[in-house]
Amino acid sequence: MAALPAATVVLDGVTVRRGPRTVLRDATLRIGDGERVALVGPSGSGKSTIGELLVDLLPVGAVHGAATIDGRPLDEVDPHVLRRTILHVPQDPYLFDADVRANLRLALPDADDDALRQALRDAGAGAWLDGLRDGLDTPVGERGGHLSGGERQRIGVARALLAGRRPDGGPRLLVLDEPVSQLPPEEGVALLRRLLDADSSRGALLIAHRDAEAALADRCVTVSAQGRLA
Ligand SMILES: Nc1ncnc2c1ncn2[C@@H]1O[C@H](COP(=O)(O)OP(=O)(O)OP(=O)(O)O)[C@@H](O)[C@H]1O
Ligand SMILES: [Mg+2]
Repeated sequence: MAALPAATVVLDGVTVRRGPRTVLRDATLRIGDGERVALVGPSGSGKSTIGELLVDLLPVGAVHGAATIDGRPLDEVDPHVLRRTILHVPQDPYLFDADVRANLRLALPDADDDALRQALRDAGAGAWLDGLRDGLDTPVGERGGHLSGGERQRIGVARALLAGRRPDGGPRLLVLDEPVSQLPPEEGVALLRRLLDADSSRGALLIAHRDAEAALADRCVTVSAQGRLA
């Protein structure tokens, strides 16, 4: 199943309720195909919620208003197609209880070991890999619990790099939800830049707390503590 060939994403008057809270209020946002938008704002304001909304991860009934990709409601697009088109790279990537190889191949099933090792090196995990007695055969533990937060994040970046090399051209939009927050700041910016430079026509929503990360985008949108976009 291939990604959509383009991804213009529009939120029009979107309100999101999570539990007892209204998180986003009447949010309007347009990310043109290939555009790079930074999303900043206080903790708890709803930045991650927007990222989750774009890959249809929010519970049914939580979202009110129109959220579309190329004019189609997001929740009417096949979830597999949606997630191939919009790649969500979360702050704590979901690793399953298997070895490093299997966790990376999730992003590019046909990748050989050399490609996996190169992706890890490109994600700043080369020294870590070299120090593993069992290399790619190393189990990561339940939810990646044998790894540090930074190591998990580097695997998340490696996965995103691999996804970018899929035969269908890879995702058209990256939702980067603080995927390098646990890495040294300069390294984090370098990795984000590498992800963005891999395909200059690929769009991105860069959720960031650090100015140097937000500066990688074409423009910046702020979510207020009240959940309004400006
Ligand atoms: N699974 C959930 N169930 C209920 N409420 C949630 C859930 N996830 C987040 N929330 C609530 O939604 C609000 C917005 O959370 P969100 O994670 O979008 O904020 P954020 O801007 O990404 O914050 P941070 O900068 O700390 O990552 C918070 O009040 C949070 O408690
Ligand atoms: Mg968040």
